[in-house]
Amino acid sequence: MQPGSRAPAKETRIVLENCGRIDPESLSEAVKAGAYKAVTQVVREKRPSAEITAEIKRSGLRGRGGAGFPTGVKWSFTAPGDVKYIVCNADEGEPGTFKDRLILEGDPHKLLEGMMLAGYAVGASKGYVYIRGEYSLSIRRIQKAIDDARAGGYLGDAVLGSSFAFDIEVKKGAGAYVCGEETSLIESIEGKRGYPRLKPPYPGSVGLWKKPTVVNNVETLANVPAIIARGADWFRGFGTASSPGTKVFQILGDVETPKAVEVEMGTPLRTLIEAFGGGIRAGKRFKAALLGGAAGAIVGPGALEMPMDFDGAKERGGVLGSGAILVLDEDASVVELLHGILRFFRHESCGQCVPCRVGASVLVTLSERIRSGAATADDLERLVEVARTMQATSLCPLGQSPILPIQTAVDSFREEFEARMAKPCGAGA
Ligand SMILES: Cc1cc2nc3c(=O)[nH]c(=O)nc-3n(C[C@H](O)[C@H](O)[C@H](O)COP(=O)(O)O)c2cc1C
Ligand code: SF4
Repeated sequence: MQPGSRAPAKETRIVLENCGRIDPESLSEAVKAGAYKAVTQVVREKRPSAEITAEIKRSGLRGRGGAGFPTGVKWSFTAPGDVKYIVCNADEGEPGTFKDRLILEGDPHKLLEGMMLAGYAVGASKGYVYIRGEYSLSIRRIQKAIDDARAGGYLGDAVLGSSFAFDIEVKKGAGAYVCGEETSLIESIEGKRGYPRLKPPYPGSVGLWKKPTVVNNVETLANVPAIIARGADWFRGFGTASSPGTKVFQILGDVETPKAVEVEMGTPLRTLIEAFGGGIRAGKRFKAALLGGAAGAIVGPGALEMPMDFDGAKERGGVLGSGAILVLDEDASVVELLHGILRFFRHESCGQCVPCRVGASVLVTLSERIRSGAATADDLERLVEVARTMQATSLCPLGQSPILPIQTAVDSFREEFEARMAKPCGAGA
């Protein structure tokens, strides 16, 4: 991977199309750039709500919060009821992830319109944006956008003079990773400690204040206005058949130019690292990448041709997750990377259930033994075994997650682990 051999890189922007082009604090600039066009058309033409859900279903839009669940299908699963909620998940706690912040800070009206269309589609009249407290600029911008949209008649009891009522409130999170999980997020909005709920029931049936609730990620919702304005077929013209559209990737670590880019789904990992990330820093060689955040996969050079879409990545032992790509050069240590991840899980385990509370601690102890040379021969297998038990028995996906980075790291870098067990270096790279 030599910096000189890079092809010119071109982004395809849908959710970030206005970022850096408009004043994010100006409603009139946003409207000039197309904000609220789709929702205006929908309420003026009194389009049936089922039509909006059907269009999102047809577009193939999948959740950008990590799991890739089809958005239209989620909306259609919302149980009947007089009171329903739309919750925008802007917690963005996944390490290395900052894509939602770009939308919140660069084009907040796009997100608000996405929430309004979701509300119209499922019959909700109230939305919440749950943002981590550290995102002070995001909070300020989204709050200003809400205030301006309300004053402009886009939000309120009669959206654009129609019978559709929709309003949005901001809720600040206190910075716990687990509060990004949809049910603990709901608990947190309700003012309780952010403990995940057992699923089922899913939020679509029993959500916020026990009412049917749609929880969607910022990037997911920001795709909705363009799909409704330009149609599902237009959206399907980007990306792959099973993952249409674009994805915002964050390229970090040992690359020349760390950045966030919006490209078509299915763009190869090599293109993201070489063409957008500028290649490996200081002309070094690529060693590994952590894909999708702490709950992601650690892949080696064999994965560079991996198409970065939900299914393409999964088929090749990777994962898309939040779209964070942490790149490691030849000098970095996968043993140390994994150790950092496991410490993160121990720190972020909410402690509600035993397998995760105890298991996350045991993982760190085993990893500590491996890196310090105090491990016994079977400690590496034990690490995998404990994570597998956590996957099978933990209450929420946080405790079920460590198996992926552990298994992928051990599969691709077993020799490095075994060498470290035999001869600890303590470099901490
Ligand atoms: C520990 C944990 C943290 C999560 N953090 C986030 C987050 O910060 N943002 C997000 O959108 N989804 C996060 N999720 C996924 C949410 O539970 C949920 O699936 C998502 O918000 C649904 O939106 P989508 O369908 O639009 O992807 C997290 C899940 C887990 C288990
Ligand atoms: S798996 Fe971990 S984070 Fe999830 S409920 Fe159990 S202790 Fe909490």
